Amino acid sequence: MDRQATPLVGFGAGKVILLGEHSVVYGHPALAGPLSYGVTARAVKSKRCQLTLPSTLSRPQRALLTGAFQRAARLCGSPGVRVGLESELPLSMGLGSSAALSVACTRLLLKAAGRRDSAREVARVALEMEKEFHGTPSGVDHTTSAEERLILYKRTPGESSGKAKAVKSPRPLKVLVALVGERSPTKKTVAALRERQARWPARYGRLFQQIGTVASEGAKAVEAGELEALGDAMNVNQGLLAALGLSSPPLEDMVYRLRGLGALGAKLTGAGGDGGAVIGLFLEPEPAVAKLLQLGVRCFSSQLAGPRAL
Ligand code: PMV
Repeated sequence: MDRQATPLVGFGAGKVILLGEHSVVYGHPALAGPLSYGVTARAVKSKRCQLTLPSTLSRPQRALLTGAFQRAARLCGSPGVRVGLESELPLSMGLGSSAALSVACTRLLLKAAGRRDSAREVARVALEMEKEFHGTPSGVDHTTSAEERLILYKRTPGESSGKAKAVKSPRPLKVLVALVGERSPTKKTVAALRERQARWPARYGRLFQQIGTVASEGAKAVEAGELEALGDAMNVNQGLLAALGLSSPPLEDMVYRLRGLGALGAKLTGAGGDGGAVIGLFLEPEPAVAKLLQLGVRCFSSQLAGPRAL
């Protein structure tokens, strides 16, 4: 088939961390899965390899995105395409919007260059974009987006990449994602936690270790189809995140609201702080989504893994 005749589209899924955010930065495992929502990159042929951005973005935002894009473009041999982006994800709310953007652009650039877009290669190039956005992330966001499946991720010490093991779910794994207030950038929350950890390393080390154990136990629960056990692991993880100083009244309120609506487990997801995203594990999230939408809560449901209804 003529490669140029196929439409040039790249998709990058947003992500949720079911278990193990923050401790993943310190080398402990995290369980994360892709959302059905994400960022789509579309391209038309062009003389130069370039990114088109909406005029609503500020100058620093444009410079950041263009710099990151050009970094990936160079790694892909700068194919002649003009790329536009569409995002279904809220920005900076813990759902991996920048990783989704990096993966969407990378997939498209690799395809445009006629190169293989295997999950591994996508992750390798997308990481270079992520570094522009985040400095030294654990790598869980872009790896989950590139793998497009539920994974147990473990960072290689000192690197922004690591090992991803696929976690198979014999049952549909569905979450409700609710958005609460505003939050600080991940970098700031991660840096503040690092200061506390450096001051009281033994205590914080124990909490990170505990979260890592809960994440591994959660992955086993998923594979055994024990969703109640996974829900319990999420609740315990929420308690540990609160102990680390990463939760806040708006997040706690939503956690208890989701549990009240029948969630098997609920917790903040992503960096946390003053606001961000809260997830609830539900056998059937739709009634809770309808109820919360009626009350003006920004929320949606997504299936992260397992068999899907036809
Ligand atoms: O940027 P967020 O909110 O999706 O959080 C990423 C997860 C952290 O563990 C807090 C940071 C990291 O690099 O893994």
